[in-house]
Amino acid sequence: MALTTLAQAHRLSGETDKALRYAERAVAASDNLHGTQARSDALAEYARLSQVPRRKSGAGHRWVAGPTTVEPSHLSPSPGLLPRASFLPLATSCRTDVEKTWAKRGRVHPAVATFVQATPVPPRHAGTVRINGEQLDGVSATTLWTLRNRAVEARRPDAVLDDLWAVRLYEAISYDYERFGAPSQTHPLRALALDRAITGYLATHPKATVIALGEGLQTTYWRLANPTVDWLSVDLAAVVRLREALLPAEPRVTTLAMSALDRAWLDHVDPANGVFISAEGLFMYLDRTEVLSLIADCAERFPGGQLFFDSLPKWFSERTLRGYRLTDRYTAPPMPFSLTVSEAARLPRELPAVAGVRELPLPYGRGVWKSRSFRAVMNLPVVRDRRPMLTLLSFARPGVRDRGLVD
Ligand SMILES: C[S@@+](CC[C@H](N)C(=O)[O-])C[C@H]1O[C@@H](n2cnc3c(N)ncnc32)[C@H](O)[C@@H]1O
Repeated sequence: MALTTLAQAHRLSGETDKALRYAERAVAASDNLHGTQARSDALAEYARLSQVPRRKSGAGHRWVAGPTTVEPSHLSPSPGLLPRASFLPLATSCRTDVEKTWAKRGRVHPAVATFVQATPVPPRHAGTVRINGEQLDGVSATTLWTLRNRAVEARRPDAVLDDLWAVRLYEAISYDYERFGAPSQTHPLRALALDRAITGYLATHPKATVIALGEGLQTTYWRLANPTVDWLSVDLAAVVRLREALLPAEPRVTTLAMSALDRAWLDHVDPANGVFISAEGLFMYLDRTEVLSLIADCAERFPGGQLFFDSLPKWFSERTLRGYRLTDRYTAPPMPFSLTVSEAARLPRELPAVAGVRELPLPYGRGVWKSRSFRAVMNLPVVRDRRPMLTLLSFARPGVRDRGLVD
């Protein structure tokens, strides 16, 4: 195809940026030519060009081998010509110029997904073709629900969340995602709220440890692109296996395959520089007494730390106990734990080591999620104990009283 030839010519003459622009046009133009030589050539050229680093590695610029998946239908006819590992920038700060341009226009380059599929697996994933997500069941399978919603969001031109790794995971895991019904913006918005809460804590505790309980297939670490932070990821064994198979090993990330309720993980944390705990999408699946005693133990163990979690109202929890059918093919697992705004406000009285509680607003999104009137209605006294909420708890420090309250 002429565009691919032009890309090759510019690459050979050292004009990499120009070459990339032609290559991306070639990929876009061959979008409906799957399985053809033209398509393969366009993808191969794009993959080859994407390996040409145009920024130095160093502070703020990291290039990391990505989890890739190779399907026979996407393999280039000349795989030997492709680079051995795929490298894609992780954060906006370390994007290629072409990706930045696309980011301005529409967040994720339309060829990125195809590129991820077209490039060979990095050595540590050798042998990986495509991972079947059906190996997850029960609560663990719900991580595919939230992953799908973040990835679908991240691929939108008007996405609220930049989450290339979610897109990669989503595309590497084969699963009947349709069983979760229509994608919802609540999960990406919740993820964004968590990013902001962690960033806020790290602003005052730059050397803190972040602990992600029930981390599932969250990709928060890469979204934050903060390699100086120690990160502890805790989830059940089946999910951890998937994480380890698909996400790059990071020197500062420790992953533990165990229940968040098993207090052994607390011993892996050095509390000296502060601790931020996230329990995104986890507590609702646990029993009330388990959740409250876990919060109390964390608060006592990590004075000055913070805990982020989300919760559902009682009526919704009860509905899941009766069997909440999301679609004909999927019934959500029971969610026995509920917590309302009023109950959250009482936590510091019930748990002495909890000093403060704040409700975090869901960031603005699209449609109803950007409506101020909708938000005002959700905050009416009669409504606010009947809707989900995001909570940020502050743990007491000896001698300091945090007076943050739910407003
Ligand atoms: C709804 S998913 C949320 C995943 C991720 N935090 C997110 O927001 O995308 C629930 C996660 O909790 C994990 N999980 C369930 N019970 C757990 C437990 N007792 N200890 C640790 N993780 C648990 C599941 O394996 C799953 O990954």
